[in-house]
Amino acid sequence: MRLQGKRILLGVTGSIAAYKAAHFTRLLVKEGAEVQIIMSTSALSFITPLTLATLSKKPVLVEFQNDGTGEWNNHVALGMWADLFVVAPLSANTLFKFAKGACDNLLTATYLSAKCPVMVAPAMDLDMYRHTAVKDNLQALRSYGNTILEAEEGELASGLHGEGRLMEPEHMVEHVLKHFQDLDMLAGKRFLVTAGPTYEAIDPVRFIGNHSSGKMGVAVAMEIAQKGGNVELVLGPGALEPSHANIQTHRVRSAEEMYEAAKEHHDEADCAVFAAAVADFAPLQPSDQKIKKDQAEMSIPLKRNRDIAGELGKVKRPGQVHVGFALETGEEEKNARSKLEKKNFDMIVLNSLRDEGAGFQHDTNKVTFFFKNGEKEQTGLLPKTKIAGLLVSHIRKLLAAVLLLLLCNPVSAQQLNFTVTINSDRANTQERDIFENMKAAFEQFLNGTNWIEDEFSPH
Ligand code: CTP
Repeated sequence: MRLQGKRILLGVTGSIAAYKAAHFTRLLVKEGAEVQIIMSTSALSFITPLTLATLSKKPVLVEFQNDGTGEWNNHVALGMWADLFVVAPLSANTLFKFAKGACDNLLTATYLSAKCPVMVAPAMDLDMYRHTAVKDNLQALRSYGNTILEAEEGELASGLHGEGRLMEPEHMVEHVLKHFQDLDMLAGKRFLVTAGPTYEAIDPVRFIGNHSSGKMGVAVAMEIAQKGGNVELVLGPGALEPSHANIQTHRVRSAEEMYEAAKEHHDEADCAVFAAAVADFAPLQPSDQKIKKDQAEMSIPLKRNRDIAGELGKVKRPGQVHVGFALETGEEEKNARSKLEKKNFDMIVLNSLRDEGAGFQHDTNKVTFFFKNGEKEQTGLLPKTKIAGLLVSHIRKLLAAVLLLLLCNPVSAQQLNFTVTINSDRANTQERDIFENMKAAFEQFLNGTNWIEDEFSPH
């Protein structure tokens, strides 16, 4: 009963593979999950609600309201109820609606309001699955942070052979199990996160500050905490009050206070995320009395604040991962890459003020991740919580790569005689990425060292 207590919303759409939803439901229920099914009206032509209601032990929902009774099926409540939302099978039509944000039935409305992670399992005929329009829509879903349970290869209902078959229910269940296991994936890892603005006192009532709300940094802290990591959150002034058992919040005001608090927790952290919008300058001598307006003009001498990420980057331990943010208004990529280098970051997250709905105060953001090896990845405009999810999955990969380097460093080559293989048919994209990262790190270690014969035998 590995899914005991888990609440799963299962969306079923119009596809010949809808019959497999029955077996999938059975497997989920057998593992102890509570399953609530929503069907699209076209799914009704392929499988009866009676079958799915019997297997899930709950009435199946199709319409916004139940005929005759006036009872309303609240899509917002459904979205909040679930720990995970799986849509299997996902037809090309519903995929299109999800990608474009349509809201013409209970299933699409629930998708738009779902707060929980979403997995979709497309199923369609070979040429449909290959079509660029379908590929683009799947890519859109990926950029919204959804997980795609890729279609499998095999015999299709049309008689053709190829990709497009709904992933086998047993495989889908493994992905679901893995998803819940991953929720603990950062257990035992310690994080330092800086967030929010800093206020630099001019006098007892005035300060130099900026428009940062701290939403992005707090979303990152919450995401890490929800995945089992322990967070020391150094948070500048603002209205946000994150609450999670894994988050210890240290309230600060000025850049100097932020530096002191961050320094205190930096050493023990496996990873530091510098999401704060730190004021670069502070008044040289703040007045301890309120400054009176008895002059027509005034100027305030400023001094440079310490660069928190820059200073801590200089004392970064081998194996520690540092992630920075950059907010740019011009030459974005060049500036972001230069900060990545200068501040010794492993990854930098660029958000541009040019993008509508991105940056300060918004609940959404659109970012590009830049990595040390020159790679980059751009997201769509997403809720900051989803951006935090993508960011944390990148951190996880960076920590995995670092772990291997750490393992390799203190031991001799003879002790490193091990084999790692993965079944690439069964592993998901993220797992394959982690594997590739570990492989690259290992190759870098082997090829980057000047071995003498004693130390290294190629077997
Ligand atoms: N940062 C920091 N301490 C500072 C300034 C910045 O820790 N005093 C961190 C931010 O949290 C962010 C990264 O450095 O992760 C880049 O911040 P940004 O404000 O974009 O760059 P600056 O270094 O301040 O450079 P500039 O303002 O000249 O663009």
